[in-house]
Amino acid sequence: MKTIIKKITGNEKTDDKIIKKAADIIKRGGLVAIPTETVYGLAGSALLEDSARKIFEAKGRPSDNPLIVHIAVPEDAEKIAYPDERFYRLAREFMPGPLTVILKKKENIPTEVTGGLDTVAVRCPSNPVAHRLIEVSGHPIATPSANRSGIPSPTCAEHVIEDMDGRIDMIIDAGRCDIGLESTVVKLTDDGCMILRPGAITAEMLEKVCGNVKVAEAVTRPDAVKDSKAESPGMKYKHYSPKAEVLLVECDDKEFSEYVRTHVSPDVTEGVITTSDKAEAYDFGTENILCPDDGNDAKAFARSIFFLLREADSLGWKKIYIKCPPKDGVSLALYNRLIRSAGGNTVKP
Ligand code: TXA
Ligand code: MG
Repeated sequence: MKTIIKKITGNEKTDDKIIKKAADIIKRGGLVAIPTETVYGLAGSALLEDSARKIFEAKGRPSDNPLIVHIAVPEDAEKIAYPDERFYRLAREFMPGPLTVILKKKENIPTEVTGGLDTVAVRCPSNPVAHRLIEVSGHPIATPSANRSGIPSPTCAEHVIEDMDGRIDMIIDAGRCDIGLESTVVKLTDDGCMILRPGAITAEMLEKVCGNVKVAEAVTRPDAVKDSKAESPGMKYKHYSPKAEVLLVECDDKEFSEYVRTHVSPDVTEGVITTSDKAEAYDFGTENILCPDDGNDAKAFARSIFFLLREADSLGWKKIYIKCPPKDGVSLALYNRLIRSAGGNTVKP
C-alpha cells in the first residue's frame, strides 16, 4: 500500500485540506496516523468493525487488547457509552487532555473495538489536529498508539514512518508530541477511581476532583497480571521495549554514576539515558549518553523517553542503563513504562 505523508504547515487553508483528506479516508474505513498531545495514534472509525480489524493487523496487536475511542467533546460520550456525573466531574477538569475513562459501552461500538469487553475507553484529545479530524470526520475514532505492537510508542512522525509506512493510508506529521507518554487510563469506582495506566494526569491531580484514588497493582508490578483477568488487557503484554536490553538501576544519582562507570562496556554498544544536568554533574565513564533536549525534570524526561529509547536502537546500542525513576507524580508513568521496557531487568547495586 502506498502511504501518503503530509506535514502540518500552520497555514489554515493547507492544513484544512490535509484534515479533510484524512477524514475522508477514515469515513471510508481506512487508517490515518495522527498527532495527539500524548503520542502519535493510529486512527480508524470506531463505528466500523473492519477498521478495527485493520488497526490490529497494521500494529500486529492481539485482538483482545481493546482500543481507546477518541471523541471531540465530552458530551459525545453519550453517543457511544453511558457516562454519569462521575465522568463529567473528571471531564470538566481534565478534558480535552490526556485522560481516558472506561465506561459501559453502547451497542453501536463493535466488540472488535473493545476486544470483546462490554466497556469502552473514552478520550477527548486536546491536540488541535486530532480534535479537528474527529469533528470533520463525524465519527468517533479508535486510536491506539501508532507503533508496531510491543515497541516504544512513536512521539514524532519519523518513528511512525518507521513502523507504519506501507501499512496504512496516510500519516500526518505535526512534529514532536508535547507529553510523550500515553494518557492516564482510569476506571470509575463507588468512591473515586482506579488508575489502570498512569500518565500526565497524576494520582495527586485526580484526588483533588474524584475522592479516593487507587492505583492498580499491575501499574508497578507487571508480573501481577500474566492472566486474562487483567483489568486493562494491555497491561499483560510485553510493551515499550526497544531492541536493546534495558537495565533499570535502583539507587541514587551518585551510586548510579558509580554503577555505570564500573559496569558499562567501554565500546560503542552500551550507553546511558539520563537528564543533561546529571550528565554534567557525574562522570559516567562513557561518551554514550542520551538526554532530553528541553529540561531536566520528570516532565521533560517523560516527553523524551520513548524518543530516546528508539534513538539508542538507531545508534546500535545493545544495552541501555537508566536510573530507576521514583513512583510519584508524573514519574509513576515513567516508572510504569520503564519496568515494562526492561522486562523486569532491574538491579540494586
Ligand atoms: O494517549 C493515549 O491514550 C494514546 C493516544 C494515541 O491517544 N493511545 C493509546 O492507546 O495509548 P493504546 O491502544 O496504545 O493503549 C490503550 C490502553 C491499553 O492498555 C488497553 O488495554 C486499555 O487502554 N483499554 C482500552 N480499552 C479498555 C477497556 N475497555 N477496559 C480496560 N482497559 C482498556
Ligand atoms: Mg500502545
